[in-house]
Amino acid sequence: MKHRAITIDGPAGSGKSSVAREVALRLGFSFLDTGALYRAAALAIRDAGCDANDNDACGRVLQGIHISQDGGTTLLNGRDVSQEIRTPETSALASAIAVHPSVRGVLVEVQRSFLSRSSLVAEGRDTGSVVFPDADVKIYLHADPEERARRRHAELVAKGMSPAMETVLHEMKIRDERDEGRKESPLVIPESAVVVDTTHLNIQEVVEKILSLVRERLTD
Ligand code: DC
Repeated sequence: MKHRAITIDGPAGSGKSSVAREVALRLGFSFLDTGALYRAAALAIRDAGCDANDNDACGRVLQGIHISQDGGTTLLNGRDVSQEIRTPETSALASAIAVHPSVRGVLVEVQRSFLSRSSLVAEGRDTGSVVFPDADVKIYLHADPEERARRRHAELVAKGMSPAMETVLHEMKIRDERDEGRKESPLVIPESAVVVDTTHLNIQEVVEKILSLVRERLTD
């Protein structure tokens, strides 16, 4: 049976993760959080004491490790790193190592291997443009930077952290610039993607919008 792929791309704080998780649940598909794979790779590179600016060295570290994901759990060499990957330091390091072709090459293969096992809702930065260019439905979510920073700030506070809002906004803008400006697979609106502005929508409204689009497309 051909597995289905739905991709949801967009910048940090656009609502991708919550929306993709819920859409996957409602469709009975697996959920693939590709950002978590980059974050786990960042931890491996940090733990190896590797220079994050060195493409070849980062690639070599990733050749020797195993990253997997099951539902909301991300494993690095069998160790549950689901909490550890969510710190602001790991966010910054993940964005920094994601510019390397060696890193993307390894992680693209990891991502594609998930589709050989089940139908997927994948969320990230290049899932519709590079990883799954033949996806059945492609969505691009965006929202105003201030609203995205507000959401990210609330997430961090809920986890017991207390960053200043200006710091969150500043770090997010740096990350946006790097994710959109890098040579290798930059964040773009994939060809044939449906663009949804989530600034004034709640998660449930975005989920319903996407589900009606998916149902329309998959029954065509
Ligand atoms: O979605 P996120 O915030 O968990 O992603 C963390 C970083 O990983 C993001 O700043 C860039 C990188 N990333 C990427 O380059 N490509 C993806 N498909 C997903 C994430």
